[in-house]
Amino acid sequence: MTKIRPGVYWVGAIDWDLRRCGAYTTPRGTTYNSYLVRGGESNALIDTVKDGFADELLYRLEKHIEPSDVDFLVVNHAERDHAGDLKRVAEAVDAPIVCRDETRKTVEEHGLDGYDFQVVEDGDTLDLGDRTLRVMEARMLHWPDSTFTYLEEEKVLFPNDAFGQHVATTERWADLVGDLMWHAKRYYAAIVQPFSPLVQKKLKELEDVELEVVAPAHGVIWRRSEGAEGDGPVLEDILEAYDGWSRYESSRKATVVYDSMWDSTAKMARALAQGLMDGGVEVEVFKLRESDDNDIVSHLLESEAMFVGSPTLNGGIYPSVGEFLTFLTGLKPELDAVTFGSYGWAPAAERRLGDRLESAGLDVVEGPTFKYVPDEVDLDEVRRFARDFAINEMED
Ligand code: FEO
Repeated sequence: MTKIRPGVYWVGAIDWDLRRCGAYTTPRGTTYNSYLVRGGESNALIDTVKDGFADELLYRLEKHIEPSDVDFLVVNHAERDHAGDLKRVAEAVDAPIVCRDETRKTVEEHGLDGYDFQVVEDGDTLDLGDRTLRVMEARMLHWPDSTFTYLEEEKVLFPNDAFGQHVATTERWADLVGDLMWHAKRYYAAIVQPFSPLVQKKLKELEDVELEVVAPAHGVIWRRSEGAEGDGPVLEDILEAYDGWSRYESSRKATVVYDSMWDSTAKMARALAQGLMDGGVEVEVFKLRESDDNDIVSHLLESEAMFVGSPTLNGGIYPSVGEFLTFLTGLKPELDAVTFGSYGWAPAAERRLGDRLESAGLDVVEGPTFKYVPDEVDLDEVRRFARDFAINEMED
């Protein structure tokens, strides 16, 4: 179950309990993947685990070799979920830490100094005997220190966070896990999306690299369709998906997000959905205070347009709408935005929504706004607006 290729083993840890990782939700937990590469002359351990998981890593490592037989500890990225228990692992293996200088600085700035570092650069190789590890810089995918490591003889890429998914499972291969692409999409939308231009650049670079296996630092491992044993997604699928997501490839789909005080904005949201459907568009609707922001941004990744609705509250926008826009802004989405909502005596929310969305880099269209409760005539107007928008502004 832990053998990935000849001499390559998964020795990571499974976090079954995690339901939130920073601002992201993780409904199926996650894994912190660590890999042992055994060479003819020396052994390398690639990446470590979050605080509290070193014992699980060492338990799995000891099934193959004594920790003291690890000759190189490769660190691709020093965020806490991969380096939180670095100290404990480093003490057990007592081997030099192989990493780029940015990773060395990150490790030291987290208060973990005094290690024996072997600093490497893009293109450098580490000879393990009959196995060669090559360093591939992956700056800002998704941290300045992010690095990929490539095992030349077995054509295995260890890309750390890239191509990951937050899924806790006893399976190790992607093709053996159901519903995996949804989790890969949630992960991309919330973590990788802001760096989409760099994903495009890296995918071009990877066209010249032979890949049989991509073994990320979270979730399960991607192998090519020829070697797959299950019906789930394979390496070709995730590479194609990353290409589409990073090019903001959208379908004829709109996502409506809103919150409501007295159901007026809610009525408008439902009418917008009806009009969009009449215009032949696929629609998802989310009431923000009841919904998971991570799910919403996953739908937005493939949407052409987002309708954002808020009632006016104290001269501004509703708190849950503001919170969502804060989350969204950092993700640098690419789509059109339409504002809508209801108000009591001054229509302040829509103007503020427009400002927030424009500052997030979105093209904004002012949609319907009504005082107090929209009646059936008003809602017909909303339906017509949405249908016309679908027909005239959304591509077939
Ligand atoms: Fe999985 Fe950037 O840490």
